[in-house]
Amino acid sequence: MKTGIFNLQTYVQKNQANIIVLADEHTMNYCYPLLLEEVSSFIVPYGEGYKNLDSCEFIWKKLTEFGATRETILLCLGGGVVCDMGAFAAGCFQRGMKTVLVPTTLLAMVDASIGGKNGVNFMGYKNYIGSFSEAEEIFICDSFLETLSYKEKVNGYVEMLKHGLIADRLHYDQVKMLFLQENQHLEDQLILDSIAIKKNHVDQDFRDQGVRKRLNFGHTIGHAIESYSLTINDENESLSHGVSVALGMIVEAYISTKMVGLSKDELHELTMVLQRVVSGISDDIPTYEELKPYLIKDKKNTEQGINCSLIASIGEGVHDQYVDVSLIKEGLDFLANLK
Ligand SMILES: NC(=O)c1ccc[n+]([C@@H]2O[C@H](COP(=O)([O-])OP(=O)(O)OC[C@H]3O[C@@H](n4cnc5c(N)ncnc54)[C@H](O)[C@@H]3O)[C@@H](O)[C@H]2O)c1
Repeated sequence: MKTGIFNLQTYVQKNQANIIVLADEHTMNYCYPLLLEEVSSFIVPYGEGYKNLDSCEFIWKKLTEFGATRETILLCLGGGVVCDMGAFAAGCFQRGMKTVLVPTTLLAMVDASIGGKNGVNFMGYKNYIGSFSEAEEIFICDSFLETLSYKEKVNGYVEMLKHGLIADRLHYDQVKMLFLQENQHLEDQLILDSIAIKKNHVDQDFRDQGVRKRLNFGHTIGHAIESYSLTINDENESLSHGVSVALGMIVEAYISTKMVGLSKDELHELTMVLQRVVSGISDDIPTYEELKPYLIKDKKNTEQGINCSLIASIGEGVHDQYVDVSLIKEGLDFLANLK
């Protein structure tokens, strides 16, 4: 992993003839100019609604038209959608071409680009088709954040908060200030600290068999909410990944009080912080019946049932907790009744 726009520009200059940039409509406008070099490029439409196999087919056609080989570098310039889908498409093209990730959203910097998971949504289920494969290089350049909206930054704050919740109380305390004060400056070091927490889990458990699962805190319910929202809304009008995960974290924190001893005080504290993100959408909270089709298809499940990662306290994650349906319903009620 390298940091700073200068390192990225130098890399692009050096490999100019061998790079094809994959961007979306926004990152082509806002981010591509920062590369400072003319390189081959093409775009996909922006948004989660286009993270699918149809877009991959489009990418494969474009790569073929450009005459790409296994030695060509697909430089994925975008948020989690472009990075996840680009890395997956590149991994399949001629059984694997070179991939470089340049995350341009905060969420993609601290989470999606780190750890080698890639993929696309399939038949309404999140990231159902994908693989584990590490990119040749990842560039973390905070210059891209200058054009990112506050709403998109908050999506990143949610994943950073999650890193604190599962592993580091101090990180949680620092990140929560970003929620509580809108003009709070985001220090570069906080981004790097958050990446380090994610990397630490990935390094211990690349294939997601143990501690890495803790990174899924909030995501079992969050992914189900996001998938449901994608199904009932027009493209790009659905709930964002970050807001969905924030909702999921509230429900799973409630479940944590019942199953792994999270204190009511910590539940209250966490809920107060996350309410800043989710206020105003209480009418959109789906019921258990609406979420069930997605919950039962969650990739972490086994024959033992719905598998959640929970928190025993702020800073201490636990994985492989099989949750009773009645508790999920209680958690959703708790969320729906928040004022
Ligand atoms: N692979 C993993 O481990 C992992 C982890 C977490 C999330 N994810 C995935 O990440 C995705 C969410 O990523 P996201 O929140 O980055 O969404 P996104 O990629 O849809 O980007 C959000 C929006 O911001 C725009 N944008 C991107 N960079 C910009 C910039 N610098 N300036 C202005 N606009 C910009 C995009 O065009 C898009 O409209 C989800 O699909 C989720 O499943 C993957």
